[in-house]
Amino acid sequence: MNDKNSPIGIFDSGLGGLSVLVEILKVLPRERFVYYADSGFAPYGHKSREEIKERCYSITEILLKRGVKALVVACNTATSSAVEDMRRGFSIPIVGMEPALKPAYEANLPGKILVLGTPFTINEPKYQNLLKRFISNKEIVSLPCPGLVELIEKGDINSPELKSRLKELFRGLAPEEFSCVVLGCTHFIYLKSILREIIGAPVQFFDGNFGTARQLKRVLKQYGSIRDVNEPGNPEDQIVIDTSANPGQVIPLCHKLLSMLSDAEK
Ligand code: DGL
Repeated sequence: MNDKNSPIGIFDSGLGGLSVLVEILKVLPRERFVYYADSGFAPYGHKSREEIKERCYSITEILLKRGVKALVVACNTATSSAVEDMRRGFSIPIVGMEPALKPAYEANLPGKILVLGTPFTINEPKYQNLLKRFISNKEIVSLPCPGLVELIEKGDINSPELKSRLKELFRGLAPEEFSCVVLGCTHFIYLKSILREIIGAPVQFFDGNFGTARQLKRVLKQYGSIRDVNEPGNPEDQIVIDTSANPGQVIPLCHKLLSMLSDAEK
């Protein structure tokens, strides 16, 4: 186990995992982080299991070289394809994510539940098994969403292209029938306002971000590796961002989205 002062590694296929980082910062404000945006290889949702695993392993090696004490797979797609093997292959604690269908079901709201995820996540046995636990008592629509992650990666989360792609994906559905939307891809956190517009009726969103942050804290406590200094230090040092794409483009975009997400919470 690394030193308590070592950073926590977080990765995603790109910008989506920043929404997880924002939740983690609330729960673990004194920790330091290395965020890896694999934007050079996004999207993961159309890749094979082996291709996604290969990316997860390469990124984990990069983050281990930076001395991370724990790892958060801030991506539902990467979690369903690789997390179990990664836990067997690496000795640091690894926290993953899954679509927050259980809390949406337990909210017991009238109306249907809509689950949005990448084609990989929705078709995986991991999600299909989760669905089986709830589908007999509730109307749940699982919608694979090809094409969204690529558009979000362009950085304009209000682009007309993104709106029309989402509208296309909703074709054939009656959006007003959904009272709960499970955002089963960390990139989709950015789509809340477009989704509200399309659904047009009051809707509650569910995502796995807070649960993941809490789980990370539990795991760090268990390993005795919560950072116990009072100050996170220089804010610029608290979060280091790395990427497989053009850093000159991706890093400023990450900072912009991080402050947008933090402002939305205020
Ligand atoms: N943020 C990833 C997830 O949660 C997106 C995967 C992709 O790149 O397609 O599934």
